[in-house]
Amino acid sequence: MQIPRLHPDTIEEIKQKVDIVEVISDHVVLNKRGKDLVGLCPFHQEKTGSFTVSPSQQMYYCFGCAAGGNGIKFLMEIGKQSFQEVVLDLAKRYQVPIKTLERQSSLEVNRQLSLRENMYEILAVSTSFYQYILQQEQGKVPLEYLEKERQLSLETVQSFQLGYAPGGWETLYKYLIESKRYPVTVVEQAGLIKPRKSGSGYYDLFRDRLMIPIKDTQGRVIAFGSRSLNGEEPKYLNSPETPLFDKSKILFALDRAKMGISKQDQAIVVEGYFDAIALHSVGITNAVASLGTAFSSEQLKQLLRYSESKQVIFNFDADKAGLAATQRAIKEIEPLIYAGQVQAKILHLPQGKDADEFLKSSPHAVEDYLESAEQAPLWMDWQIAQLINNKRLDQADHFQQISSEMIQYISKLASADLRTYYIEKCATILSNGEVRLISSYVQNLQNKLKRLNSPSATASPSLIPLVNGDKSLLEKAESFLLLIYLHCSDYRQKIRDSLEDKEMVFTLSPHRSLWQVIMQIQASDNEPNLLELLQDYYFNEAEKFKQVSHLFHLSEKNHEDLFRISELIEQAIASLERVQLEKYRQLCLQKWQELSQNENNNSYYYLQEFYNTQAKIHQLDQVRLTAG
Ligand code: UTP
Ligand code: MN
Repeated sequence: MQIPRLHPDTIEEIKQKVDIVEVISDHVVLNKRGKDLVGLCPFHQEKTGSFTVSPSQQMYYCFGCAAGGNGIKFLMEIGKQSFQEVVLDLAKRYQVPIKTLERQSSLEVNRQLSLRENMYEILAVSTSFYQYILQQEQGKVPLEYLEKERQLSLETVQSFQLGYAPGGWETLYKYLIESKRYPVTVVEQAGLIKPRKSGSGYYDLFRDRLMIPIKDTQGRVIAFGSRSLNGEEPKYLNSPETPLFDKSKILFALDRAKMGISKQDQAIVVEGYFDAIALHSVGITNAVASLGTAFSSEQLKQLLRYSESKQVIFNFDADKAGLAATQRAIKEIEPLIYAGQVQAKILHLPQGKDADEFLKSSPHAVEDYLESAEQAPLWMDWQIAQLINNKRLDQADHFQQISSEMIQYISKLASADLRTYYIEKCATILSNGEVRLISSYVQNLQNKLKRLNSPSATASPSLIPLVNGDKSLLEKAESFLLLIYLHCSDYRQKIRDSLEDKEMVFTLSPHRSLWQVIMQIQASDNEPNLLELLQDYYFNEAEKFKQVSHLFHLSEKNHEDLFRISELIEQAIASLERVQLEKYRQLCLQKWQELSQNENNNSYYYLQEFYNTQAKIHQLDQVRLTAG
């Protein structure tokens, strides 16, 4: 469909209705800071949050990369969509009727809106239909299953709107299409019927199954989960993806759990529908279930918007694929955990029970569950515990493996306090009871961490291509730093520290890879004969060596330089800084030109930044030139 030109009234109405916090929370975990909210910027790599959202101004702004704008701008940037596309999506999301400049397309767009409306209605009607059948003679067996085997009260059954899809092939089809006169194509798009493979006609997707409505956060039914009762495979069958149902974004029971989550400031995630239902039925109302797929960061973000302190307990099955499943399930959200954006805890119930089984296992199961949840280890502690599981610390190879994996985990933590805390903790574990060893292990871990975090390991992405003239400046400065680093061991510390202080990295790729090799060599040996080891390394890498071979010999000219090394190092670092500022200055110019064309409010910001950066470059040039 061609995208219509929207009427200004419609655009205005959408702008009024869009809530920037809601829109951005789909993509970024936001934490309160004063009257604003702060999170990790989705537009550039960062470990601590500089992405700020102001609800009062309905604006976002990143102090790291200078991205900024309103909710519509955010969606345009994050989804690489045009203004029109974003506005149209928002109209659907916020149910704003569309007026366009051309009458014809108005009709088309509103037809699409009403398609969604129709699907909601059809799903709601189907829910009632399934509920009704559950109470009839045909529903006797499933109802008994719910009451006896699942031990659910009638009240719970009703409040979750559980139902039963009868056994025929066309029961729902006949009801919706023949009695209620809903259009076949819409019922099909809602994921309830499928066209027959041979011949014409349709058949019901769900037959002889317990039906579990899946709702969006506003409590509207958008899909179904279902369980077979006679052992037929698959045990659980879900609706297919539809325009209303995106599996990776939805969590079962979130509509009713959101209150509980915000009251208890904590969410519980389980694997199965019936685990969530069982928890709610005993009054643990902050539970949601994933939908049989790996847990996604989008799902996590949905949850976190209701918890101020961002606490989530993962109560996944400890049986079957077991622990590995937990690892896999939360793999995608790891970066958020390391960044301190979420406090994830891992709850494994005894004997590999799932929540539903556990709650039925004893008269005091509810208290026991709450107690276990309370004591569930933080994800980081759980990971560390997994490392030493079935390992022997008194065996050298195990010890080495464990300590290097520990440092990998620790190095990813954004918070310096937490890194210190876990270094102590890991050193204590490694000491294996020999208290006098702890402090030397602490020292050892700290050294390793320092090397891992050296500038080469944290290369930041470049913003725009290098400006031509800067290339030789960069080339000269980087070469000089590497030359001194290789030949004058007394200055190595100074070079490493200055690079780290200024957050500078080598940008030219032969230099960057040489630097990486150097860091690797030094990570395994503190005071190595660096040149010798490098030559060993490059022995098998003739091509690579060619690009950096000039750095391995000191020329006459270099010898003169050796009298004022300190000063020259400072100059070289200033040169790197200048090149980076120049890139940023160009970026501001470009942004300003782009934005000022369509009278964007943010264009002024970039103009200001452009001049500020220019002033900094002048200052730096003074240092660079007068020092030389
Ligand atoms: P489990 O097989 O662990 O089931 O599936 P459970 O919840 O303990 O099942 P009961 O107690 O025997 O009823 C957990 C979740 O995985 C998804 C469903 O979302 C289910 O709730 N699943 C499972 C599927 O999507 N398809 C399947 O065939 C099985
Ligand atoms: Mn179960």
